[in-house]
Amino acid sequence: MAATKPVMVGTTHVDPPKIVGGCQIITLPKIADVRGNLSFVEGERHIPFVIRRAYWIYDVPGGALRGGHAYYKLEEFIIAASGSFDVVVDDGRERQVVQLNRSYFGLYVPSMVWRQIENFSSNSVTLILGSLPYSEGDYLRDYQTFARLRREGCK
Ligand code: TYD
Repeated sequence: MAATKPVMVGTTHVDPPKIVGGCQIITLPKIADVRGNLSFVEGERHIPFVIRRAYWIYDVPGGALRGGHAYYKLEEFIIAASGSFDVVVDDGRERQVVQLNRSYFGLYVPSMVWRQIENFSSNSVTLILGSLPYSEGDYLRDYQTFARLRREGCK
């Protein structure tokens, strides 16, 4: 597997960097207000799928890793609702690290992209919007099988 290439995402990005596997940083609307900022996301408007599920990861102990799999069909949008973390994405040939650290942008991850989430800051909350209900059968948990399927052009 190729060495990891970091994609550092700052607080502004006019030109989002190209990310492996068709992943994409998507900036959401931000309604700035002295009472506190507000952002929102609508399926098929800001992100390219209908939202069928939301889940979140929190109380992550130091050094923990989440994910380490791909999905056959699920598309997802990952937001750092609080704090920061790194999303490592891999298309079977190349691997990149995307840092998410603001709640007004997120990372779109298509199906058949291996992804792992790591380097969580304390009190981080990872919000994940998905295109499908939970199904264990949609998980691809073996990296070699994933890489072979990618090579064979399943995506
Ligand atoms: P998993 O997706 O493997 O966690 P991660 O990829 O973040 O390491 O899910 C962990 C457990 O939670 C697994 O037993 C399935 C369960 N789960 C659900 O029941 N529904 C869901 O929507 C999700 C995401 C997980």
